[in-house]
Amino acid sequence: MEWDVFLAPYRQAVDELKVKLGGYRDFYRIALRDSPIESVTGRVKPVASILEKAGRRGIPLSQLSTRMQDLAGLRVTCQFVDDIMKVVEMIRSRTDMHVVEEKDYIKEKKESGYRSYHVVVQYPLQTITGEKKILAEIQVRTLAMNFWATIEHSLNYKYQGNIPADVKTRLLRAAEAAFRLDEEMSQIREEILTAQQHFSQKKTDEE
Ligand code: GTP
Ligand code: MG
Repeated sequence: MEWDVFLAPYRQAVDELKVKLGGYRDFYRIALRDSPIESVTGRVKPVASILEKAGRRGIPLSQLSTRMQDLAGLRVTCQFVDDIMKVVEMIRSRTDMHVVEEKDYIKEKKESGYRSYHVVVQYPLQTITGEKKILAEIQVRTLAMNFWATIEHSLNYKYQGNIPADVKTRLLRAAEAAFRLDEEMSQIREEILTAQQHFSQKKTDEE
């Protein structure tokens, strides 16, 4: 398998999607001085992980492009839980990518404690041989969810998927703490918004 050749369109798709989603961030910052997007990152799945996952799932390499949805991966972080659905809404409403699947691990968190909203899109990439439809997985999560997932991921890596029971328990507690942090932050934001509305109403009344 010529990996460089096979993965080139995925590299291109990740780069384009990073620019497109990142564009929203800048646009919102300028127009509203506030953005539902904190940061956008992307990666092409490393060949070793592709082979590992294909083996685990029994996916023949010839079917990777249709059966492995995260060869191209994007991650959007948000400050607040409420921002997540705003980002999902704008992905759904775009005409240059098509949502093929959504997974809500926020309503229904995973057993590990993982929370995130996943959107799989089909992205029509323009290549030298014409249009090629690329699947990409976009993970949308808060900074707190991302912090937890990053740590859990590196522990999983360190223990090769066999995290000791006591560490697992701690991770579940940490997931709970991240959840509460998100809730606290949402409340603070609401209070600030209410205070601002009150302030601008007062100003209008005085004018
Ligand atoms: P894989 O988990 O990649 O085999 O795919 P899947 O079809 O099971 O999809 P799923 O939605 O479960 O996971 C997709 C991606 O979400 C993973 O590749 C991770 O990036 C992330 N993810 C899912 N579960 C966890 C988790 O428990 N911990 C962390 N850190 N990330 C997770
Ligand atoms: Mg999984």
